This record gives sequence, structure tokens and C-alpha cells, in this order.
Amino acid sequence: MEIFTDIYLGDSKEKLKLLSDNSVDLIVTSPPYADQRKSTYGGIHPDKYVEWFSPISEQLLRVLKPTGTFILNIKEKVVNGERSTYVIELILAMRKQGWLWTEEFIWHKKNSYPGKWPNRFRDSWERLLQFNKNKKFNMYQEEVMVPMGDWAKNRLKNLSETDKKRDISKVGSGFGKNISNWLNRDKAYPTNVLHLATECNNKNHSAAFPEELPEWFIRLFTKQNDTVLDPFMGSGTTLIVANRMNRNSIGIDIVPEYCEMVRKKLQPVELYLFEPKLKYENNENTEFGRSSAIR
Ligand SMILES: C[S@@+](CC[C@H](N)C(=O)[O-])C[C@H]1O[C@@H](n2cnc3c(N)ncnc32)[C@H](O)[C@@H]1O
Repeated sequence: MEIFTDIYLGDSKEKLKLLSDNSVDLIVTSPPYADQRKSTYGGIHPDKYVEWFSPISEQLLRVLKPTGTFILNIKEKVVNGERSTYVIELILAMRKQGWLWTEEFIWHKKNSYPGKWPNRFRDSWERLLQFNKNKKFNMYQEEVMVPMGDWAKNRLKNLSETDKKRDISKVGSGFGKNISNWLNRDKAYPTNVLHLATECNNKNHSAAFPEELPEWFIRLFTKQNDTVLDPFMGSGTTLIVANRMNRNSIGIDIVPEYCEMVRKKLQPVELYLFEPKLKYENNENTEFGRSSAIR
């Protein structure tokens, strides 16, 4: 089986039009945040953000498969002492466009800079918004299970009668739990909070993802040979991780230096095109070849 990695140099708004309808299984991306990092790759005014992003999210809706998922990493900054509301406005606009806002994961940045502000504490989390086209989408929950750890030992030691029955949520959410189900298990499903350190050193990009971030979502929402898209790829973390995990990937960036940097990082992969084909070992014993192209 051949795994491809395609890089497009240019504006996502235009380059996304080159991709086929319903062709992508997972989109993981972190677009430029409103008005931030002006010195490196331009910023969009918070008041113009929805207008700027809407044609892009319209294309993303077109290229995502009905079973696919879109993970959008974003965070509103403080303007004149108030949190700006552009992310909330963006969620509402995307719902009108046809997206379902399925979930919000939190990226807890374990190593955020210490600091002191007169009216707030240091910001140590970002939003990871999950959007889908349908209520039914591919999700492989077993792939991200975590060790039960000490919680199990303490919480499950003395179970009450309620704990032994299914405990229907008191807030009417429709969710319930039967804690005794988790006795004698060594793994549990994770929460919607990801505790990950930021990783900008050695990446030559000021806002790179930690590799575990795309990796976690790729495991949760895709299988081998599926296709992952990052329309604001920066240093290419999403593509590099996807490739390592035997997923096809597509990346777009408007800065030529970033495209060149990702191409170089993928160069050992390109060699497979010209050398006698090296085959990758993987859990499913499928053989994978590699190809990559810059467009
Ligand atoms: C926050 S960074 C992404 C970092 C990336 N997640 C990583 O791990 O390196 C956003 C990227 O979007 C790119 N960008 C900004 N506007 C763009 C546009 N209109 N089309 C494509 N890329 C754009 C920037 O050059 C920048 O590299």
C-alpha cells in the first residue's frame, strides 16, 4: 500500500479548492489566531476573523468525508482587559454553515510561562474544538485508553450501593455511570482534557504543536491508510506524525520557507520513491510504500 504526503504552497482558501469532495478523514489544524504573531505570518483582526475563516471552513466542510472529524485548535486573546468573542462567533457561524459542534477538548499546556497580571492568572489552556458533518462519525475510542492508575485503587475501594447500580445523571444529560463496571480493569477511557507540554524548541516555528497532540487525534479518529489534512501546517507536525502512523497526509502553508522546511523533513521519505521500495512494519502486517510531493 502506498502512503502519500502532499504539500501545497499558498493560501488555504484557494488551495483547498484543488482537493476532492469527501476525500479527507481528519482535519487537525491551528490557524493564525486573531491579531497574534503579526511579525511572523500576519494576523487577522478579531472583528474580521469569522469573515476570513468562513470561506476556508466552507471548503473544509466540502473535503471532509461524512464520517470525518475536524479538530480546530484556537484561543481568544485578551483585548482591552476582556476576552475577545471571535471564537464564540466563529462556532455560531460554522454551525450555520452546516457543521455540528460535537465537542470541546481542552489542551492543558503543562509548561506555560509563569507570570503576574493584575486581573487574571497565567493562561495555560487552549481550545480544541471538534466539528463533524454528521452525528455518526468514525471514532476508535479503544486506541486512546489510559491506565486506571491510583484513581481505581482509591475510588473503587469502598463502593456505595449507588456506585454498584447504573447512576443516571442528576443534571439530565442522559449520561450515566456504573462504577463497579470498572473493577478489575486496568484501562479506562480518557477525559476530554489533554495534558501536553508545548514544544517550540528545535521546530523552527513559533507555534508548533507538540507531536502528541495530532497523534492523539489521529489515533482516535483514523485508521491506517486514512487521510489527514492540516490546512495551516506550519512546521508540518501533523503531516510528519501522520506519515509515521501510516496515514496519508495533505498540508498547506502560505510561507514558502515552511513548505521547504517540511519538504526537507520528509526528504528521507521521498528517497523511498527512488530507492528499491522499503517496506514499513506495522501492527496489521500490511506493507506500506511512501511517496510525497510539493505542489
Ligand atoms: C499556528 S501556525 C501552525 C503551526 C503548526 N500546527 C505546527 O505544528 O507547526 C499557523 C500557520 O498558518 C500559516 N498560514 C497563515 N495564513 C495562511 C493561509 N491563508 N493559508 C495557508 N497557511 C496560512 C502560517 O504561515 C503558519 O505557519
